[in-house]
Amino acid sequence: MRVVMIGTGYVGLVSGACFSDFGHVVTCVDKDAEKIARLKQGIMPIYEPGLEALVATNVEEERLFFASTPEDTAAAVRAADAVFIAVGTPSRRGDGHADLTYVYAAAEEIAGLIDGFTVIVTKSTVPVGTGDEVEAIVRKARPDADFAVVSNPEFLREGAAISDFKRPDRVVVGTEDEQAKEVMRELYRPLFLNETPILFTERRTSELIKYAANAFLAMKITFINEMADLCEKVGADVQQVARGIGLDNRIGSKFLHAGPGYGGSCFPKDTLALVRTAEQAGAPVRLIETTVAVNDARKKAMAEKVKAAMGGDVAGKTIGVLGLTFKPNTDDMRDAPSLDIVPALQAMGATIQAFDPEDHEARKMLPSVEFKDGPYEAADGADALLILTEWDRFRALDLDRIKRLLKAPLVVDLRNIYNAADMTRRGFTYASVGRP
Ligand SMILES: NC(=O)c1ccc[n+]([C@@H]2O[C@H](COP(=O)([O-])OP(=O)(O)OC[C@H]3O[C@@H](n4cnc5c(N)ncnc54)[C@H](O)[C@@H]3O)[C@@H](O)[C@H]2O)c1
Repeated sequence: MRVVMIGTGYVGLVSGACFSDFGHVVTCVDKDAEKIARLKQGIMPIYEPGLEALVATNVEEERLFFASTPEDTAAAVRAADAVFIAVGTPSRRGDGHADLTYVYAAAEEIAGLIDGFTVIVTKSTVPVGTGDEVEAIVRKARPDADFAVVSNPEFLREGAAISDFKRPDRVVVGTEDEQAKEVMRELYRPLFLNETPILFTERRTSELIKYAANAFLAMKITFINEMADLCEKVGADVQQVARGIGLDNRIGSKFLHAGPGYGGSCFPKDTLALVRTAEQAGAPVRLIETTVAVNDARKKAMAEKVKAAMGGDVAGKTIGVLGLTFKPNTDDMRDAPSLDIVPALQAMGATIQAFDPEDHEARKMLPSVEFKDGPYEAADGADALLILTEWDRFRALDLDRIKRLLKAPLVVDLRNIYNAADMTRRGFTYASVGRP
């Protein structure tokens, strides 16, 4: 199959590289010419484990190509069996609806170029009914064109994106067009060897599945975060509560880790967009409205938690921060909890010295932070150490060294990666989330 990815970001690049690894011929297109120029030199625009090698192999095997010029894009789209739209759908400023400007612009561009039967696949996360609009855009521009618009939401997680794409729990495809179903089956055929379920639905249903999945997971995280707050008040341990409920198969153990609130490029914007869609449709989703509100308040409240752990005042104090990205194994800073917590602590008068293994985005977004080259440098001379992201390398720190470097042996661990009893035994004052 010949495939074009419009948008070469976290989703487009990973999907494109994986499809090429399946044996398809893929062209990844981006309007960011610099991104494409760097990709052609083998330089990845994002940090994602395993991506660089996967891209290199498939470029070498001449299955993976990059394009930014109109001519190269046109040639690739004309030859394509499937053109994926994998552009961003951020929150629209002011109202929280998904901003579909990039999706519709991509649809316009594709419309002018398709040749012969082409499946236009929306991989971006888009509200119910967007496929209808994409179809109308293409139909209007090209009344005679032979195409089908399919919804194929992506469920990969940053940091584990390649294995998620290659070994997904399921593939969801929204279309009732038989010819399009055949193309989609062929594209994902390598996955059927490991019997990945492929769920064919009507297009609107497929669009909603993606939002329902993200909203449910965001709600699950928010649930355990509220349990953590309750645990702190009543002297219970949220990790054991999570284990105790997670062992119940009906609940499941994933997404039950208490922390500073969810962030990232998907949950915040997708929960909000679902709330807006539901409001507009006259079927409000109160659980998700509450989830959004609770999570927003939580991220803001975390600075207060740090302040309380530091004796009620952080003015003039230095805090060493470990981890700024919204989760480990990514450089993505979109809606990271650190973006609320760090400026709030600075506003209270604290100086922040931080280390993150993939800090190039963080440096742009938190310019007044002093960036350090390692966890020990971040701890050096600080009044407290604050763990914000659970990168593996923070899980096994030389704690005696940390203790010697800190001005006071205080660790605030918002990811619960250390054992409270052990930390106390080592002479730390240790604060974490939802644990005695
Ligand atoms: N990041 C994730 O983990 C994840 C997971 C599942 C789904 N999604 C969804 O996938 C979509 C893409 O997310 P992302 O994180 O990859 O975004 P991103 O911002 O990393 O990448 C989008 C890319 O599209 C390019 N682009 C925009 N308009 C274009 C056009 N007309 N032609 C060519 N290129 C264009 C941009 O330059 C950018 O490089 C979003 O809808 C998101 O919700 C993301």
